[in-house]
Amino acid sequence: MDGNGRWANRRFLPRLAGHRQGVESLRRCARACVQRGVQVLTVFAFSSENWNRPEEEVSGLMGLLANALAREVQQLSRDGVRLHFIGDRAGLGEKVCAGLAQAELATAHNSRLILNVCFNYGGRWDIAQAAARLAQRGAQITPQSLDREMALAHVPDPDLLIRTGGEMRISNFLLWQAAYSELFFSASLWPDFDEAALDEAIAAYNGRERRFGQTSAQVQQSQSSSLPKQMTT
Ligand code: IPE
Ligand code: MG
Repeated sequence: MDGNGRWANRRFLPRLAGHRQGVESLRRCARACVQRGVQVLTVFAFSSENWNRPEEEVSGLMGLLANALAREVQQLSRDGVRLHFIGDRAGLGEKVCAGLAQAELATAHNSRLILNVCFNYGGRWDIAQAAARLAQRGAQITPQSLDREMALAHVPDPDLLIRTGGEMRISNFLLWQAAYSELFFSASLWPDFDEAALDEAIAAYNGRERRFGQTSAQVQQSQSSSLPKQMTT
């Protein structure tokens, strides 16, 4: 969800106003996903590296999280959204952690959309924590065993990975899980990322041929087999 700061700058507003608008945009996007039958939405809200931002912005983002937990969870739950917070909780305050756990509990019965909010998350952190847990148990480290220990083990790997804000990099998001994701880079700043922008990304996804290492001819031949179906809009 990149581009909040630039969205605010262009309006001569403080960066935090952009982040606030970003929360609105996330609410709209989650609802659009529910309407389109998307079953899992995973968003990058705060990275392990975002602690390096100015203190004022970091505390603003923490405040925004607390606020969103207090204000948004009920409506999200009514929309059928199940929340998961993904990331290193050790770096977060006790009160924030309690809020995250409570939001997860309050939405645990929902099943229309799983919304994974990556907060204090990094792709490298995830791979390392999964490996560390296996090592602690003396278990073998294989792609399959790591997969089961990753913070997103409860959902399939993403079919489509969208980065907004015009930058063309992954920035330590879903390094493990995005191995075969279709990448889509949107020029829209995150606060401007609306239903039309989402549909554009889904349409681009539907135009891709996913080969998973196979040849195009093989894929065409086994079109009716077990490869992921196209998303419907
Ligand atoms: C939001 O966008 C990402 C967060 C860390 C919350 P940015 O804050 O990175 O916005 P830009 O890139 O400065 O526009
Ligand atoms: Mg940015």
